[in-house]
Amino acid sequence: MASLKKVKDEKVGFQTPRGMHDILPVDQPWWDRVRKVARDLADFYNFNRIDTPILESFKLFERGIGEETDIVEKEMFVLKTKGGDVLALRPENTAPIARAYLQHRLGRSSQLQKFYYEGPFFRHESPQAGRFRQFHQVGFEIIGGPNDPIYDAQVIVVAARLLEELKIKNSNLKINSIGCRVCRPLYKRQLQNYYRNYEKKICADCLRRYKNNPLRLLDCKREECQEFKAKAPNFFDKLCSTCSTHLKGVLEYLEELAIPYALDNQLVRGLDYYSRTVFEFHTEGAGTEVGALPAGGRYDYLMEMLGGRLTPAVGFACGIERLIHVMKAQEVKLPLKAVKKVFLIHVGDLAKKKSLKIIEDLRRAGISVAEALGRESLKSQLKLADREGIELALIFGQKEIFEENIIVRNLKNSLQETVPLPKLVEEIKKRSKG
Ligand code: HAM
Repeated sequence: MASLKKVKDEKVGFQTPRGMHDILPVDQPWWDRVRKVARDLADFYNFNRIDTPILESFKLFERGIGEETDIVEKEMFVLKTKGGDVLALRPENTAPIARAYLQHRLGRSSQLQKFYYEGPFFRHESPQAGRFRQFHQVGFEIIGGPNDPIYDAQVIVVAARLLEELKIKNSNLKINSIGCRVCRPLYKRQLQNYYRNYEKKICADCLRRYKNNPLRLLDCKREECQEFKAKAPNFFDKLCSTCSTHLKGVLEYLEELAIPYALDNQLVRGLDYYSRTVFEFHTEGAGTEVGALPAGGRYDYLMEMLGGRLTPAVGFACGIERLIHVMKAQEVKLPLKAVKKVFLIHVGDLAKKKSLKIIEDLRRAGISVAEALGRESLKSQLKLADREGIELALIFGQKEIFEENIIVRNLKNSLQETVPLPKLVEEIKKRSKG
């Protein structure tokens, strides 16, 4: 009895899980727009689509993103399969793409590969504006080839164009270098020495970071840690000559492209695979505070961390929900949807029965048709066709069935003509040209 009652109660109020959302038909045009712009950019800049599974080995993320990161420590959805494998819902796609690159030896066919992806990702975060437990990203990655700052610049250009094509205004780019294996350990030590004086004053998270992952001390958003952060040693002063030349190269390309940027020596990002360049785009203005839009960087050591060879790589990803939020807040207008050319109106049961066949004939001829098969009255169907701005109504009733005709009525000027059914496609095409 008790279990039956539970089922009954649940039936009343099923909701999406916390931090996860339906994408209803009314919102689909926004999603279509973002995906189309991302796909067109991928096409133009020669990035090839890649899809990886939603579930991956938990270890892939532990190794790739880093054990000490918030994502791996606190935010993973982890499950054990019946066979005993420990899998995780992917929280991001750079580690899975690196895994695919190694697994399929994609580096063999060509030195440099460019990948593009879109899809759902999962992080068990506290839901808030722009932060969800299931969210979607579009992302771009360049893997292999020489370790050349031109590729850092190219992914930043793609990110900038993504915002521009979506008509997102007031965005700004923050950029930093977090060094390499040579200079980063020295800086980390210096940071630890500096924070040693504040061990008792920083938040519990920072205390952990101080011990295990000092670079992330610069990422703390808590009020009580800001004054220590502000006076922390500057990484720019500690970059080795190779890293500083690389950063200079990236900035020169950005200047060449007239992409404005601000150097931010405290930008470290929340994933451990980065080296050298890291960057984030944000927007300013009321209602647009959703955190970073496109965000990414260089990850030259990731392949090695996953058991492959040292392979230069750089990329970024952007939350689709955040893009749509900002577009709506900035009142971006979507391009108008193409209006269908014809509306098929049926009058009577027999005509309704034959309507599907007419729709199929038109489909084969490449003519898209609107209809309201559930409505019966001529008047209500005509009204609908008019409301949708459709030019031609095809009116099909009892008389037309017997005479094998159909009425083609121009809804703009109310002129109508009876056309033999076999000539319908030809007639519509003729009118489309006119
Ligand atoms: P990320 O900064 O963790 O980087 O995420 C990239 C973007 O995904 C963020 O800037 C934001 O737009 C969106 N995003 C992240 N978490 C959420 C969330 N909980 N809710 C809504 N949107 C979110 C990465 O994922 C790296 N894989 C990016 C990258 C690619 N680096 C190199 N290549």
